[in-house]
Order: sequence, then structure tokens, then C-alpha cells
Amino acid sequence: MGVFITFEGCEGSGKSTQLQLLKDYLTKLGVDFIFAREPGGTVISEKIRSIILDKSHAEMSDECEALLYASARAQLLNEVIIPALNAGKMVILDRYVDSSLAYQAYARGLGFDFIAKINDFALNGCPPDLTLFLDISPEDAFKRKGGVDESDRLELQGLNFHTKVYEGYLSLAEKFPSRFVKVDCHGEKLQTHEKIINILKEKGYLR
Ligand code: TYD
Repeated sequence: MGVFITFEGCEGSGKSTQLQLLKDYLTKLGVDFIFAREPGGTVISEKIRSIILDKSHAEMSDECEALLYASARAQLLNEVIIPALNAGKMVILDRYVDSSLAYQAYARGLGFDFIAKINDFALNGCPPDLTLFLDISPEDAFKRKGGVDESDRLELQGLNFHTKVYEGYLSLAEKFPSRFVKVDCHGEKLQTHEKIINILKEKGYLR
């Protein structure tokens, strides 16, 4: 069996940058890995992604959204993740079930039990071996980006929502201490990259 590693984080946490640095590092090292993003990663899951993220679908219910994320995930798991793990590969995912728990369960308020239940059905288990949470609060992430416009109602609403997402992730860190690792990412991007590599080495996933 291979090893299953997921990345989580709020908007502006630098997740994409860190994933690119990690992919470059693994490629240089010759590690046999696959990478996918959620929602997406298969033809069907990418089609579901475009339905979920389509700005014209403003009427989408929270329940519909949650089920679509779980559907996209089920397809990715069966078509890509399980075969790769069975082939002994390292699987790196940009977001997985913890995103649904932080965004749909906590921030949208659908509740942990409901989201856990639909994902248990969709995924039939298959938790990651390790989840790396890029830990920076939305306030600090916005500050790093140049600040939030306090007069902008939408930006403020956005901050409230993203604060709930962040708090959701902190609850998940407490719920799943054995697999969920917080990576402080307030520092410079190469410092954070080094922290990530050190964690992977400590866990025995990298030489
Ligand atoms: P994306 O543009 O890939 O965002 P990011 O670069 O921040 O990962 O869009 C994915 C969006 O979907 C992002 O806002 C988080 C959200 N999401 C959920 O709400 N629930 C989920 O289960 C997943 C996988 C993503």
C-alpha cells in the first residue's frame, strides 16, 4: 500500500504554493507520486466541480452542494486514489473530506454528523494517513494579502464565513489528533516548505 497525504487550509493560506514546492521536491527525489485537486481530478469529478463552482448557480442548496462534493470525491477515490495506493504510490491531494467538514459542516452549519455520514457512505472509509493543515487565520491571511476593506460588506461577510471555516479546521485538529497536523505558515514560504518536508521525514514517508 502507498501513502495517502492530504493538504487543507483556508483561502490565502498559501496551499497552492506549498503544493507546487512539494511536487517539485518529490519529482527531483524520484518519488512515485500522484497529485490531484478536489473537487476534480477525473473527467466526471471536474464536471461536478464546474457545476459546484458555477457563479450562475446561486440557488444551489447547501445540501446539494455537500452531496456534489461527496460525489466528486467518491469518483476520484474509486478511479484514481485507490488504484494508486494499491500500486504503492504516494497520493497527494489538494483538499479531501476535511474540506467538507470545515466548509459544509462547520461554516455552512450542516453539522458534523450529517457531513461525516454522507462522506462515510460515499467513501466507505479510506481516511488519509496524514493531513497537513496550513495554519494561518483568515485575518492574518488577508493582512498578508494587503488587508480587508472594512467598508466592503461582502469582504466582511467573507471574513466571517472564512473564520468559521478556520475554527472548523481547529476542531478537526482536536478530533483527529493522530493524523491531523497543523503547520504554522506565517513565515516565509521556504520555511513552511522545510517544515512540511521535515514532517514527512519524521513520519517516515520520505528518506
Ligand atoms: P479552489 O478554487 O480549488 O480553491 P482553493 O485553491 O482554495 O482550494 O475551489 C475549491 C473551493 O471549494 C474552495 O473554496 C473550498 C471549497 N470546498 C468545499 O467547500 N468543500 C469541499 O469538500 C471541497 C473539496 C472544497
